[in-house]
Amino acid sequence: MQKLNVIHFEEIDSTSSYLKREVDNLSNLTIAETDYQSAGKGRENRKWYSPKGENAMFSILIKDIDIINRFPLLSLLSCLVVRDYIESLGVDNVEVKWPNDVYINGHKVCGILLEGRIPDYVIIGIGINLNQKEFNDEYRIVPTSVSNELGRNIEKQAFLEGLWNNMLNSIISFKSNQYDVINEFNKYNYLEGREVNFVIDGKTLSGRAIRVNENGYLIVESEGSQYEIMSGEINY
Ligand code: BTN
Repeated sequence: MQKLNVIHFEEIDSTSSYLKREVDNLSNLTIAETDYQSAGKGRENRKWYSPKGENAMFSILIKDIDIINRFPLLSLLSCLVVRDYIESLGVDNVEVKWPNDVYINGHKVCGILLEGRIPDYVIIGIGINLNQKEFNDEYRIVPTSVSNELGRNIEKQAFLEGLWNNMLNSIISFKSNQYDVINEFNKYNYLEGREVNFVIDGKTLSGRAIRVNENGYLIVESEGSQYEIMSGEINY
């Protein structure tokens, strides 16, 4: 497996859109990283806005078929790598929120967006609140940042390089089936035991999240039955 190849932009529309446009000219494990996105994308067609220079925003291009074939687990893996890394900086109570977020003490610190064209490529887009201090009040639950949790500013370049190194090592062990993604995810599963709403056959039900199963689906118990939820079918 080759090394990471990093392209830095002072400003771009979206690091994930850039990789998508250039996919035919870029190699596996290319990272696009930026200080500012003018059209940052979140999940479910939401926007991802981040003030210039304060936070970490990057996307990783995956063109390795062994990894693409297991892309539902890839999003869980990405959450875990970010979780472990933030914890290693001295932050407590860092959890993964199925399917694609990282939370600290119940507040979102990182969102992940997976896009791609299977079986050709997958793009993992990662946004981490790093040095942002204030968040506007449009959120139901106010997000947090690594610096708000640690009470100090974080040097972005060193943060990114450490994280990318861990990401590369984790992708290598994932490829050779040595990363127990599901077990690890369930250890830090924010939703475990919480009430969630989900949609089955057009009907909204509510139930208690139990765990993530071997396929990466969330198991929810509702009125004595268990349901396997795929990402996109759940509201919190
Ligand atoms: C979410 O929580 O809805 C996912 C947010 C993903 C944001 C990142 S920032 C880098 C990459 N480029 C984008 O346009 N989006 C992702």
